[in-house]
Amino acid sequence: MTDADEHRQRQERRHADLLVHGATVLTPSGAERIDVACSAGRIVALGRLHTAWSADVTLNASGLHVLPGVIDSQVHFREPGLTHKEDLETGTRGAVLGGVTAVFEMPNTNPLTLSAGDLQSKLDAARERAWCDYAFYIGGSAANAENLSTLENLPGCAGVKVFMGSSFGDLLADDEAVLRRILRHGWRRMAVHAEDESRLRERKAIVDASGDVREHPLWRDVPSALMATKRIVRLAGETGRRLHVLHVSTAEEMAFLADHKRRVSVEVTPHHLTLSAPECYERLGSLAQMNPPVRERHHQDALWWAIRKGVVDVLGSDHAPHTLEEKGKPYPQSPSGMTGVQTLLPIMLDHVHAGRLSLQRLVDLTSSGPARIFGIEGKGRIALGYDADLTLVDLCARRTIRNDWITSRSGWTPYDGITVTGWPVHTVVRGHTVVRDEVLTDTQARGECLRFLEARPAGGAGDAPV
Ligand code: DOR
Repeated sequence: MTDADEHRQRQERRHADLLVHGATVLTPSGAERIDVACSAGRIVALGRLHTAWSADVTLNASGLHVLPGVIDSQVHFREPGLTHKEDLETGTRGAVLGGVTAVFEMPNTNPLTLSAGDLQSKLDAARERAWCDYAFYIGGSAANAENLSTLENLPGCAGVKVFMGSSFGDLLADDEAVLRRILRHGWRRMAVHAEDESRLRERKAIVDASGDVREHPLWRDVPSALMATKRIVRLAGETGRRLHVLHVSTAEEMAFLADHKRRVSVEVTPHHLTLSAPECYERLGSLAQMNPPVRERHHQDALWWAIRKGVVDVLGSDHAPHTLEEKGKPYPQSPSGMTGVQTLLPIMLDHVHAGRLSLQRLVDLTSSGPARIFGIEGKGRIALGYDADLTLVDLCARRTIRNDWITSRSGWTPYDGITVTGWPVHTVVRGHTVVRDEVLTDTQARGECLRFLEARPAGGAGDAPV
């Protein structure tokens, strides 16, 4: 190199806030050995950069894979009202330690999230306490149906969530007329917990009599899920609304949903893909109790089939913490729910290691999928101009998941003692290295609320005041 060349190179040297060097990067074009430069929270350059770029922080990431930040579109962080189980700080801390950079939080808190004021309280509580980015669902109910087209467009709102069957908390919309009103008042994709309330009520006597948690999938059986899913898909078709069916758990629903994919998106959870009945109930008792239930192996096989065939759009953890004391109540008084936000990625990387899905498909389910179906601005891919949300993983690291790693207030995971291959190492949220070498290193929580391309200015025809 001549002096002139060197001088020119020095002149051209570019400076970034963060340079991720030496890793394999999952871009929309596939896995590439390139560097990622990030400035002011965005991805500003991709390529062989390290000779031409300097940076405030360089992450030497050789041997690691860089995924677009993982988005968990279903978590229950329990604030306000239930913060002995979880809060926004502990929940999002678990998220980033597990490689998750953004979450959608659910409305069955206390109070429920039903009004603009309820949403604003959550946004206020998240400011400077959330370690990752976030949005909050508004619950759809008889009480607020006419306000939903305004509410769903408020900043920080992930959309509307409806519980067709009661699970935990008082949020329920099972009446067909109410469901129609909810579906008619809004435009964004509506998320639904599909279990048929009247069938659940009829069948509750089964478990009241037996007190046997192994009968959880018998109480909340396949028809309970299938009836509700068919009904809401029919109503959404009648009202022209797009739908997102959360935590699909049965082979029968998957076969049905495969024929309704043009307007309906589908979520599965890591626990339905990993645990199976009756083994999980025998080993974990009510710690495996979840709604909809973890079911027999042939249902799990159908969920994997649906992943392979593209029927499934996203993975959500349905992180639903309850304390061990609460879970220790005799079944069925024990509440349904388990932690999951921190283990979503380790469990799924272990499935990648076992050859059940490709890394590219995992990225589709945890990053580009949620960004696509929910219209999240600037997220979900490693591309110029996108937010610098990066999840750096070691595909070969073997770790044993332990309860004491779990930051949740509830302090436990159904995967305690399970060894997995594949682990999140560094988590970068909008250019900030929040987790470095598996340790929370950032000193200030800087999560911001997500923006949605789907949200429209409030005040459309038919809106009632909120
Ligand atoms: O098992 C569950 N628990 N399923 C849900 O959908 C809600 C959740 C909770 O909030 O505890």
